[in-house]
Amino acid sequence: MYENRTLVRGDNLEEMRKFPDACIDLIATDPPFNSKRDYFVPYRDQHGQEPDTLVRAFTDTWNWGEAAEDAYQHLLIDEGGQIADTIQGLRQFLNETPMMAYLVMMAIRIVEMHRILTPTGSLYLHCDPTASHYLKIVTDAVFGTGNFRNEIIWCYSRPSAPKQRQLSRVHDIIFWYSKGQQWIFNPDLIRQPYAESSRAREGYSAQASKIASGSVELDSKGKFPESWIYVPPLKGNSHEYMGYPTQKPIALYKRIIAASSNENSLVLDPFCGCGTTLMAAEDLNRHWIGIDLTYLAIGAVKQRIEEHFPQIRDTVTIIGTPENEEQALRLARNHPHAFEEWCVTHVLKFKSNAKKVADGGIDGTFRFPVGRVKGRQAYGKAVAQVKGGNYTLSQIRDFRTAMQNVEADLGVFVVTSPPTRGMQTEAAKSGTYRHPFLDMEIPTVQIYQIQEYFIDTLPRLPFGERAVL
Ligand SMILES: C[S@@+](CC[C@H](N)C(=O)[O-])C[C@H]1O[C@@H](n2cnc3c(N)ncnc32)[C@H](O)[C@@H]1O
Repeated sequence: MYENRTLVRGDNLEEMRKFPDACIDLIATDPPFNSKRDYFVPYRDQHGQEPDTLVRAFTDTWNWGEAAEDAYQHLLIDEGGQIADTIQGLRQFLNETPMMAYLVMMAIRIVEMHRILTPTGSLYLHCDPTASHYLKIVTDAVFGTGNFRNEIIWCYSRPSAPKQRQLSRVHDIIFWYSKGQQWIFNPDLIRQPYAESSRAREGYSAQASKIASGSVELDSKGKFPESWIYVPPLKGNSHEYMGYPTQKPIALYKRIIAASSNENSLVLDPFCGCGTTLMAAEDLNRHWIGIDLTYLAIGAVKQRIEEHFPQIRDTVTIIGTPENEEQALRLARNHPHAFEEWCVTHVLKFKSNAKKVADGGIDGTFRFPVGRVKGRQAYGKAVAQVKGGNYTLSQIRDFRTAMQNVEADLGVFVVTSPPTRGMQTEAAKSGTYRHPFLDMEIPTVQIYQIQEYFIDTLPRLPFGERAVL
């Protein structure tokens, strides 16, 4: 079983299946919502200009296919019982639609979540009205309707288009289920001052006037928590904003974790994204495990921890990323895009540029300070290109051209096999880069063999702002 502060890069179904029964105290998670969208991270250039490139973070589009059919058969045959009946009924109604594909994907995972929760554990399942009604049916079937505790409404309010022909959608839904009939609940930790809770929603003044008239008896600890909460949505200038699409506010998850776990409880987020649940758990002295399918997300969590909790950075374990040369080469062979993402976000810690629009094949970028120009901080730019398979001399030439096109000062060409002498000569044609104030002179183009990473050797680069998103 994984220890506290473990990040797992992988499919949460496979990962959760490795967990023993009854080992997790709280699951607080925010899966894809079946929004039929691909989520992209805006990638800003070195001056923070408007994005011209986007990085695909994850896909939230589902279709009925082999994987959905397998999951369906598993639920029917291996699980059986309530969930089999429920999912069979839903299929009769929904047929082989994207919604049904999404629901079987969620159902097999909810079955695992239920199994690994401790008897007093809870699941908080974040969703929105796109699929919440169906998800509730599925989760009722797995947990039992008697263990449904609350439907929590997170209101966030945001500017709306004035002319739309329906109400603005400004809330998400979080289902809370307990595993059994005894559960952890600490309402006193999430009480709010009366004034704050009544002021929280614009226009909601009835409570305030009752309080003012003395017709409501006040508890000095604050108001007993209710099933809705107002937490403002994240803004781009907020200190916790990472730029990860669908990122949720830490305050919302702190409330969930405070209410339904105790200090040193083990909290799991199997769809952890950039790690909001994990940050909230760490802040509240809970133990945590996070799982996400993408290297980008796990890289973002790592970066976030390094920034916000530098004291624990050496205690975080990362699983599911290559640990030796052989695994790295296997990843390059079998999943070239994942290899590229891993090299960029984990090895180099550059900003990933996975979608490659108008960038001449640059896979990652990072900037480093080079002093002040006209009173403003100026930056140098390093770019990377990853070649997981064979590569040629002309590709190194093309990389040099791409570097010129994007005005890069330094380039790292990541490869899995040694360059020929001719390739080294081609790279050397770009000369050397002398840092304006550090005593540092380095080759402008470095050919970096990934094997070096496992003997603790990284390309030579100036100190700079590392950020994977
Ligand atoms: C809605 S986002 C979570 C955002 C998160 N709450 C945050 O604040 O950053 C859902 C995440 O689930 C991940 N994901 C989707 N399918 C997955 C799977 N099968 N296993 C693990 N992670 C998965 C996606 O990569 C994405 O990061």
